[in-house]
Amino acid sequence: MSLLEVENLRTHFISRDIDNQIRVAQALNDVSFTLEAGKVLGFVGETGAGKSLTAQSICGLLRPPARIVGGSVFFDGQDLREMPEDDLNAIRGDQIAMVVQNPRTSLDPLTRIGDQLARIHQTHSGGPISTSRERALEMMEAVGIPDPTNRAKSWPHELSGGMAQRVLIAMALMNNPKLLIADEPTTGLDVTVQAQILDLLKGLTERFGMAMIVITHDLGIVAHYSDEIAVMFAGTIVEAGPVVDVFNNPQHPYTQSLIASTPEKLQIGGSAKLGGQPPDLYNLPSGCPLRTRCSFAQEICATPPPRRQINDTHYSVCHFSGKSPANGSAS
Ligand SMILES: Nc1ncnc2c1ncn2[C@@H]1O[C@H](COP(=O)(O)OP(=O)(O)OP(=O)(O)O)[C@@H](O)[C@H]1O
Ligand SMILES: [Mg+2]
Repeated sequence: MSLLEVENLRTHFISRDIDNQIRVAQALNDVSFTLEAGKVLGFVGETGAGKSLTAQSICGLLRPPARIVGGSVFFDGQDLREMPEDDLNAIRGDQIAMVVQNPRTSLDPLTRIGDQLARIHQTHSGGPISTSRERALEMMEAVGIPDPTNRAKSWPHELSGGMAQRVLIAMALMNNPKLLIADEPTTGLDVTVQAQILDLLKGLTERFGMAMIVITHDLGIVAHYSDEIAVMFAGTIVEAGPVVDVFNNPQHPYTQSLIASTPEKLQIGGSAKLGGQPPDLYNLPSGCPLRTRCSFAQEICATPPPRRQINDTHYSVCHFSGKSPANGSAS
């Protein structure tokens, strides 16, 4: 049993237009993946691909008109979709914690950071506040905040961006989560601070045996910090596997285009060109969602692409995976 098992997760936005007709945006379509305890999984993909929505769907943090319409999420053997809201609340912020972008909006501006940290612990532990305060200092220390005893008295507005992000990570760690979901944890921070925060997160997963999902636009971050990668496009995972396999042998034209366009020029393998706009989720193309933007697209791409195993753990969802689209014919 894996720590997290997500199968065929489908999340739609269901609303009515001005003529009272039901409109459905198919934002997540059959997202499936597993994550083992202690491993780091990186999610990449263009804006609107559904990365944050995947995280929110797992944590049960969707707001209408978003709704999970199919699939399952098992965490540590427990079915999160079938769980009563109170039980899910108890798991969220305890066994599953999230770090989001924009630390400032996630901190309460009117509460000293030490108190915010202690409160998170106490809500879940129900123990004495003195224990929670000690734990807050311990976690501030763990995330590299200098002089925790004094810093605990700071107000959120007194913190730099990097420090605020560290506080947020400390908050996420307060209850010893088994899974940490970090959604663009370093976007907006300067490059040196980014590296510090990412090294810190990676170090913490090792130290506490925590699994982590890192959501990012930056393939370099995934290459450096993840064990596994999941490449998302139009609400679905189009290629996934161990980082080394996917980077050394990218099979999906979308993955190839992402790798080819990274500034670090991690360029290996194909070099599909990809222009154009993300597909309209209210009207997804039939078959492969990439086909209207893919330079390799052929007639067969109007039919659903198969999931092809490249090896035991690496797969790609493309008619031409494992073949050269220029020469081969799809089966
Ligand atoms: N209320 C809504 N109605 C319809 N579609 C929506 C609504 N809210 C969000 N979406 C769509 O859901 C899709 C998934 O968004 P999500 O935030 O998960 O993308 P993302 O991959 O995290 O992108 P980014 O990299 O920009 O953070 C987007 O295409 C977005 O347009
Ligand atoms: Mg996002």
